Amino acid sequence: MARILPTDRAIEDAVTLLRGGHVVAIPTETVYGLAADATNGQAVARIFETKGRPRFNPLICHVSTREMAERLAVFDTTAGKLADRFWPGPLTLVLPLRENSPVHPLVSAGLQTIALRMPQGFAAELIARLGEPLAAPSANSSGRISATSADAVQSDLGDRIELIVDGGPSRIGLESTIVKIDDGRPRLLRPGGVPVEEIEAVLGMPMESGVAGKIQAPGMMTSHYAPATPLRLNANHIGPDEALLAFGPVRAAGADLAKAVANLSPTGDLRDAAANLYACLHQLDAVGASMIAAEPVPNHDLGAAINDRLSRAAAPRDTETRTLS
Ligand code: TXA
Ligand code: MG
Repeated sequence: MARILPTDRAIEDAVTLLRGGHVVAIPTETVYGLAADATNGQAVARIFETKGRPRFNPLICHVSTREMAERLAVFDTTAGKLADRFWPGPLTLVLPLRENSPVHPLVSAGLQTIALRMPQGFAAELIARLGEPLAAPSANSSGRISATSADAVQSDLGDRIELIVDGGPSRIGLESTIVKIDDGRPRLLRPGGVPVEEIEAVLGMPMESGVAGKIQAPGMMTSHYAPATPLRLNANHIGPDEALLAFGPVRAAGADLAKAVANLSPTGDLRDAAANLYACLHQLDAVGASMIAAEPVPNHDLGAAINDRLSRAAAPRDTETRTLS
């Protein structure tokens, strides 16, 4: 079992462990992260080992200031605009790697780009105290649902790490939105905590999605963010052996006979639903149902990111393409 310390008592121990090249699970406003000093290759390698990631996929590098970010990547006008508006916060920018960046190449898996995010709260304080950027994927073993509480990290990774910093339930509950800037052209690589509508409003134009025929972020692979129990979408009737993932006032027929019910947001609020998504999936995954049946969720604002995660959880489980984050 890992030690769990609350944020107001954790910073010294976390800094000491990180300086020693260890990984520490930390809260961020999106989901819990499994953090290591991004400039230390062995520490970064420990992240992959701890998650059991099948191969080295690029990680998000977290910074505490814009100055730190600009030492690692080249910002053009578009990148600057988005960082001004959304940092600190749930937006990750994939930008050209700066020459002589101190970040270890394993963080970017050898790519010429780097994914950067400036988090809020404890994570930012920790980076400032350490004085180095932190590489941090979501704190879950490869292929599992992201952790949104210290307990979720403990039950998944607790026997593999020393320290979990407890910041309470993650405020947003979904991973960051990832935008790649290619020659000034922004592309959405992963919907997440910042609604696409808000980004497009700042850009003054619509954004393209991904890149045709090419996987740009492993988070875009189909089977991902998956509970162990199979999941089906757009459920309007529930079988007795199924668990219901509801949204709003329960509409699905047979809900009263369901093996278990978890409601993303009884009032139909998309922010609440995002914050509750992974905890609800964990909860339903534990009841031994044959299937998790998910009611439809509206596809605007944070609903787009929720539906993205649900459809990945519902995708066929092909072990070849399965889950790298
Ligand atoms: O909210 C979040 O983003 C959380 C918290 C901890 O910050 N982190 C997170 O990290 O979700 P992870 O490793 O689970 O997902 C990072 C995603 C992966 O899909 C990865 O492929 C993509 O970011 N990524 C990282 N660097 C990239 C790059 N240079 N080009 C394209 N995609 C990249
Ligand atoms: Mg992940």
